[in-house]
Amino acid sequence: QVSLKLGCGNLKLPVLTQRKNFAPLALSWMSPSSAAGFEGVSDRSDLQDFSVCSSDSFWAAVARQRLSWIRPFHTVQDCDLSQGRIRWFEGGKLNVSVNCLDRHVHTCPERVAVIWERDEPKSEVKLSYRQLLEMTCRLGNLLRRRGVKKGDCVTIYMPPCPLAVASMLACARIGAAHNVVFAGFSADALAERIRDAQSSTVITVNQGVRGGKVIELKKTVDAAIQSCPTVQQVFVAMRTENPVVMTAKDVAMEEEMAKEDTVCEPAGMDSEDTLFLLYTSGSTGKPKGLVHTQAGYLLYAALTHRYVFSYHDGDVFSCVADIGWITGHSYSVYGPLANGGTTVLFESTPIYPDPGRYWEMVQRLKINQFYGAPTAIRLLLKYGDKWVHKYDRSTLKTLGSVGEPINTEAWEWYHRVVGQGRCPVVDTWWQTETGGICIAPRPADPDAEIVPGMAMRPFFGIKPVLMDTEGKVVTSNDTSGALCIAQPWPGMARTIHNDPQRFTETYCQPYPGYFFTGDGAYRSKEGYYQITGRLDDVINVSGHRIGTAEIEDVLCSAVAESAVIGFSHSIKGQGIYAFVVLKKSIDVQEADVTRQINDMASKKIAKYACPDYIQFAQRLPKTRSGKIMRRVLRKVVDSELEGLGDLSTLDDPEVVQEIIQGHHDLL
Ligand code: WT7
Repeated sequence: QVSLKLGCGNLKLPVLTQRKNFAPLALSWMSPSSAAGFEGVSDRSDLQDFSVCSSDSFWAAVARQRLSWIRPFHTVQDCDLSQGRIRWFEGGKLNVSVNCLDRHVHTCPERVAVIWERDEPKSEVKLSYRQLLEMTCRLGNLLRRRGVKKGDCVTIYMPPCPLAVASMLACARIGAAHNVVFAGFSADALAERIRDAQSSTVITVNQGVRGGKVIELKKTVDAAIQSCPTVQQVFVAMRTENPVVMTAKDVAMEEEMAKEDTVCEPAGMDSEDTLFLLYTSGSTGKPKGLVHTQAGYLLYAALTHRYVFSYHDGDVFSCVADIGWITGHSYSVYGPLANGGTTVLFESTPIYPDPGRYWEMVQRLKINQFYGAPTAIRLLLKYGDKWVHKYDRSTLKTLGSVGEPINTEAWEWYHRVVGQGRCPVVDTWWQTETGGICIAPRPADPDAEIVPGMAMRPFFGIKPVLMDTEGKVVTSNDTSGALCIAQPWPGMARTIHNDPQRFTETYCQPYPGYFFTGDGAYRSKEGYYQITGRLDDVINVSGHRIGTAEIEDVLCSAVAESAVIGFSHSIKGQGIYAFVVLKKSIDVQEADVTRQINDMASKKIAKYACPDYIQFAQRLPKTRSGKIMRRVLRKVVDSELEGLGDLSTLDDPEVVQEIIQGHHDLL
């Protein structure tokens, strides 16, 4: 008997050896150049050129070498970016969970697959590849027995924990897609995502625990499914000892899993079958369910994980993002597990129980690669160096940053204080849409120069281009432009669930033939890239992406009119500034409306959607055709009054003075 500590409830699992009915391919983990033997490629910078210029040969070789196929693919890619058609490795069949688990169980069953760093410090739980496979198989069998079929979509609303990983992999095992919803989202936001994904099964925990606080996740699911007619069953795992009210739809997950077999036949999936949906914000109110598929996504996550972070066998890798974001998908789960690595799942916060949490964890778990967000680094920097110095960080080899631009001060502190000046800091640029890292300092050369605050160089197979305002490719250096990617790569999202039209319009049509990222970038004299921020109405609050229109949608029921914009915030990166015009007809107090706005933003979206500032105005600056001039509002908030620009199209130029005065009064 082996006891798996799943939160408090211990699940006793009999030890069974997996039947050897799906032999993995022999894998070599040599560098791609020497292993693949590409013609004319003698070093890793040649390899970068080769990966872009002979993209098909590169990806075909890497896909054969790195993935275990049930049936080989016959076509490397069939893509036409101008049509929004993206297909990789067609004809191929594989199973992602076999690639992440079974093949490692064959070679090293007792290697640690996941270390669950629970919220309670010093209570980590380790699971071997064999244990994670057994957990996944039991859950796969349970899902199958309870009617989940290939092609269904299961919504997962859980904090980072082994059962969440097993849930994702169990879906992959039986061919269902998963839809992980960040457990900080409100019931309304969860319901919207369940409805759009048409899930009949939801997986959650009784309660979450974060920063010492208990979070009622099961209650949130109960509230959400009131408006989700498709939901037939809710699997509930026990993270705490506190019982929760179980309804007829609820399934006690550990109890039912204990009855299942530890062997579960993997479904053979086509390369282009959906692996998961992940909702993210765009510039309109409705979140988009980006679709990622099996082979290309997994390959790209695995390859970037290995080369961007210089991950070597036996290293302990830790990505502290939540599994509810793409970062958690690609670098807490799929990338490390496909590589047979050891991955840390972080359930807590950077300052619980104190601001030394990350570094105490690094010391205790002997972490080799640490991947986190600039917002947390900026926060910890303010608490001072002593929290870092207290702990031994000599195991650290690479430090990563993701989610938003990292300012030079934070970069330097991360490098000098956390990494003792000896660990390269890799600022990685990518998006939910790109599936994995696209621009990062050292994909092709582990000794390459790194400039603080720059994402630097494209990854293998990535060809970034900058576009000018006329939609033409900028060829010179030391210039800025709209960041596009000139050719498809295996990790990119395939479409938007239920809305393929929106996918093509958003990403493929702005610059026909190119993938448009929505970000602006600067290319230095040396040809290095620096990301300058979004070009659309999407803002980035503590690494959480949110559309200003989404917040405006929420506000519109409380006020007559609103305009939400992002402003530069010293810790969060960007903060939320809302201009609102009260409804004329009713007599309301500003304080009441403020409270109402905050309640609604956290109820409809999440806590991080609450505005930092609410400015009450009599009216908003508009053009004669009635469009709000956000440019003017942005300049006012950024205190760039000289740069207000052309105001001749304004309906009434006096509004600007009112807005400036109101802004002044608020600060
Ligand atoms: C947006 C994507 C996939 C990472 C987690 C966020 C911004 C991401 C960087 C970076 C500057 C960055 C971009 C991007 N972003 N990484 N290293 N430097 N900006 O994923 O929620 O899909 O957000 O985050 O604006 O478009 P996401």
